[in-house]
Amino acid sequence: MLIRPFLEEDTEAVVALWEECGLTRPWNDPRRDIARKLTVQRELFLVGVDDGTEAAGAGQPIATAMAGFDGHRGWVYYVAVSPARQGERLGAQLMAEAERLLTGLGCPKINIQIRSGNDRVIGFYEHLGFSPDGALGYGKRLIAD
Ligand SMILES: CC(C)(COP(=O)(O)OP(=O)(O)OC[C@H]1O[C@@H](n2cnc3c(N)ncnc32)[C@H](O)[C@@H]1OP(=O)(O)O)[C@@H](O)C(=O)NCCC(=O)NCCS
Repeated sequence: MLIRPFLEEDTEAVVALWEECGLTRPWNDPRRDIARKLTVQRELFLVGVDDGTEAAGAGQPIATAMAGFDGHRGWVYYVAVSPARQGERLGAQLMAEAERLLTGLGCPKINIQIRSGNDRVIGFYEHLGFSPDGALGYGKRLIAD
């Protein structure tokens, strides 16, 4: 897998990947989420593409991680690997690249949010060295999509 920043032409494939991975929600318009991310640290919106040269699907997005540093914490959203390619350590590679870029910006700690009910990914993050913070996540919507 080759990891590179998101390009506008990835949009439809990336939205399809997120849908396939069950990451989209009715209250989050994924295309608006992408458009907003392209205005802030777009170089931290990572896409993993199949680097097979001849294989069908070569060059297609197969994984994503949308990272950002707010000056205090790094955040990573939309961590996704195509279901057909899960278990090949692609998610770990993508998170390692996000960590490398965030560390380079002086980011001291990464936070991730796991939706209630998505318990099956807990093992993945714990495997990568993440542990529970003991904090309760609260949010307040400012712009309705
Ligand atoms: C979570 C997800 C990104 C993991 O990607 P992946 O490429 O399948 O995971 P990897 O193969 O890189 O796994 C890395 C390591 O974690 C381990 N691991 C992965 N999932 C695990 C789990 N549920 N429990 C325990 N260990 C797990 C792997 O065995 C691997 O171990 P290794 O380093 O010894 O080989 C992928 O399953 C996914 O896209 N899920 C759906 C979307 C989602 O829920 N995203 C998270 C939103 S918070």
